[in-house]
Amino acid sequence: MDDLKAAAALAALEHVRSDSVIGLGTGSTAKLFVAALGEALTSGRLRNVAGVPTSEETAQQARSLGIPVVDLPASGLEVAIDGMDEVTPTLDAIKGLGGAMTREKIVAAAARTFVLIGDEGKQVARLGARAPLPVEVLPFGAERTLAALEELFGAAAIWRMRNGERFVSDNGGWILDLPLGEHLQPAALALALSTLPGVVDHGLFLGMARFAYVASSSGVLRLERSA
Ligand code: 5RP
Repeated sequence: MDDLKAAAALAALEHVRSDSVIGLGTGSTAKLFVAALGEALTSGRLRNVAGVPTSEETAQQARSLGIPVVDLPASGLEVAIDGMDEVTPTLDAIKGLGGAMTREKIVAAAARTFVLIGDEGKQVARLGARAPLPVEVLPFGAERTLAALEELFGAAAIWRMRNGERFVSDNGGWILDLPLGEHLQPAALALALSTLPGVVDHGLFLGMARFAYVASSSGVLRLERSA
């Protein structure tokens, strides 16, 4: 599986130019991309590339490889490259099983080109077919936010846990995992979530990715969203 993730990560390197600032995703596939970027900089294939990391973990990895870490520039980014939990044929995606989707979305939205990478197991016909939808909420009033979310969507959400405690994001938020029923329309859901008080952000990435590199044993498929 790591070989497939690495193949997708390597393929996405074609979007990176020397003398640029790029968005660096989070998760096991993004980690392989950051490693490939580090190698490209060490070998001289690329020069002067700085990264805006989407998590503290990615920041640490980038620094350890000598990749300069910078804040998100006001002018945005040339490209951002990140993993995915699910991707549809039209390149809508669910992200956030690693809990970093709030920063990931800020970085993806700032990029002129957003590129997803992953293995074929991430391909779905409909969002929510395999993964729950991660929703980051403020700890303040969180039980009420949970109840409001469940009322709105008629589904039981689950608190993300780690080592017996609520998972805490890099932003200090908590994460709810919401199963997506077949009847839920992602666009309507995204709009409803963005207006619910207490919700910081969620893992629906609709109409954001321009390219996806999906690796399988027969090679890496390059998918491009029609404009
Ligand atoms: C983290 C993410 C990751 O990109 C997503 O979970 C995919 O991770 P992996 O490459 O480990 O399967 O959204 O918030």
